[in-house]
Amino acid sequence: MHTLSRFASATLLSTLFIGPALAQTARRAPAPVRDQLPPAAAPVVARHALVVSAHPLASQVGRDIMQQGGNAYDAAVAVQFALAVVHPSAGNIGGGGFLVYRGKGGAVGALDFRETAPAKASRDMYLDKQGNVVPNLSTSGVLSVGTPGTVAGMVELHKKFGKLPWAKLVEPAVKLAREGVVLTQKEAAGLNGTQFIQRIGLLGTHPVAPGRGTSERWQGKFGSLPISYQKPKGEWQAGDTIRQRDLAATLSLIRDQGRAGFYQGDVAELLLREIREGRGLITQADLDAYQPKWRTPLKGQYRGYEVITMPPPSSGGVALLQILQMLEPHDLAKLGYHTPASVALITEAERRAYADRATYLGDPDFGKVPVAQLLTATYNKQRASTIPADGRATPSAQVTAGPGLPGYESPQTTHYDVVDAEGNAVSCTTTLNGAYGSKVIVAGAGFLLNNEMDDFSAKPGVPNSYGLVGGTANAIAPGKRMLSSMTPTILTKGGKLVLVTGSPGGSTIITSVLQSILNVVDYGGNAQQAVAAPRLHHQWLPDQLDVEAGALTPTAEQTLKDKGFNPRPRAGWGRLDAIRVLPGGQLEGGADPRGDDAAVGY
Ligand code: GLY
Repeated sequence: MHTLSRFASATLLSTLFIGPALAQTARRAPAPVRDQLPPAAAPVVARHALVVSAHPLASQVGRDIMQQGGNAYDAAVAVQFALAVVHPSAGNIGGGGFLVYRGKGGAVGALDFRETAPAKASRDMYLDKQGNVVPNLSTSGVLSVGTPGTVAGMVELHKKFGKLPWAKLVEPAVKLAREGVVLTQKEAAGLNGTQFIQRIGLLGTHPVAPGRGTSERWQGKFGSLPISYQKPKGEWQAGDTIRQRDLAATLSLIRDQGRAGFYQGDVAELLLREIREGRGLITQADLDAYQPKWRTPLKGQYRGYEVITMPPPSSGGVALLQILQMLEPHDLAKLGYHTPASVALITEAERRAYADRATYLGDPDFGKVPVAQLLTATYNKQRASTIPADGRATPSAQVTAGPGLPGYESPQTTHYDVVDAEGNAVSCTTTLNGAYGSKVIVAGAGFLLNNEMDDFSAKPGVPNSYGLVGGTANAIAPGKRMLSSMTPTILTKGGKLVLVTGSPGGSTIITSVLQSILNVVDYGGNAQQAVAAPRLHHQWLPDQLDVEAGALTPTAEQTLKDKGFNPRPRAGWGRLDAIRVLPGGQLEGGADPRGDDAAVGY
């Protein structure tokens, strides 16, 4: 069994930060005075290598791999598989993701292991006969599942950059699943609050939700209970141990057979049976056809920093660079932190970039995405020229996508950063989409399937579960990748690595990553301040400014209201994780106190 207390015996050089304690501290703290970045807990500082992820056990796995001679890419693979065990709401093998890297010599690249629409998917598959979107069809159950990309992506990453043997990287996850993990309060609450779907498989075809009392009817392939995430009696409590034997068996096959251990053989058979019984669309041909793709990352400049970020089919990098371009002419530090003037400016830039997102962005392999045009200085100057100089809001109804260009995504995603002793850096965001994805657990194989199909635009103009609207650029088509907001990002300055950052949070990912950058570059924050500071978010539609508790003083909030903004309280979102490289070369970790996130290094 793996517990957090094991960390107490970590080596002297090892560093650990556990979020919940800090989260409690943050809740007790009086509302900070705005116009300066609020103080945060002291960040973790490591001399050689550092991992920040959504769970201390996953961060520890990554650190251990590097101490055993692995590089940042090896550690990323090990963290990805560990998260699938210890953070099942978003860590995954049944989902996908995006990764941006910068090698020790400065070479950069991006890996797209996003899910794809199955070959039998069609544009109107979530519409009824009247052409209306059928509620929940794209968000839960097997019809919401895209062909998973994670295992193929990790195999590809290891093939290109791995130093240690593959099996060594997957083994820690096998061990965590088999021996059990002690639940944190947040993980216990997440599991208790979820209605999982698992078909009885051998005995029936009906969804088992919430599924209690069915265990005696199930004879799983690997012989365990039907719903490993469900406590046989009562509710999960912090401190309970959860063992995931089916998942351990699945991970063992992946460990021993690589890609074939997931996309073929026993695991594929169980996955396809689950899909068939729910009348889903994925077939063996989809599994065979799935390919991760290497992509060229987007590069932009912001106040002397180079920003290296994810290209389409994520919208994250394009929108981030557009917003930074619109902000650069303004002295944000002088305008003050979270003052009405700075908030108005940032919000207006966000509004315009998200309007463009809805119109122009989709899978570049299926249509022209005008990335170059969206990122030209003249285009964004023109976009920013309509931002009122007096700090007033432009109603979203008056903001449409920029004219004349050619061509035409839950809070529960997860992000991790790794920097190794040689200076290789990895920023990876990975997801099942919603919390626990489609809620479908592959019977006998013990893993959750994504509901990524909801990131497509089921019908032009109809919002998805994040309130995001889209158009034909993001319409469903066989084999196509659904548009994402995931924004794994790396900053350098003068050829040197400065910041590795990223976040979950659905549509709020882009603005969370933006704020981590502004908090460091404009407001002089350290990595912990950058991720902990209360956040704001605007996504064009709906026309509202989401405000986390403590993000605005009452006076600033009232001024913004008077200026036409529509502030709405919203509970803490995103789980930003960041690594900042200090001038002396030490690595400073920022782990989001909103989650169980932890920075672990040596
Ligand atoms: N599923 C969330 C995103 O990709 O943006």
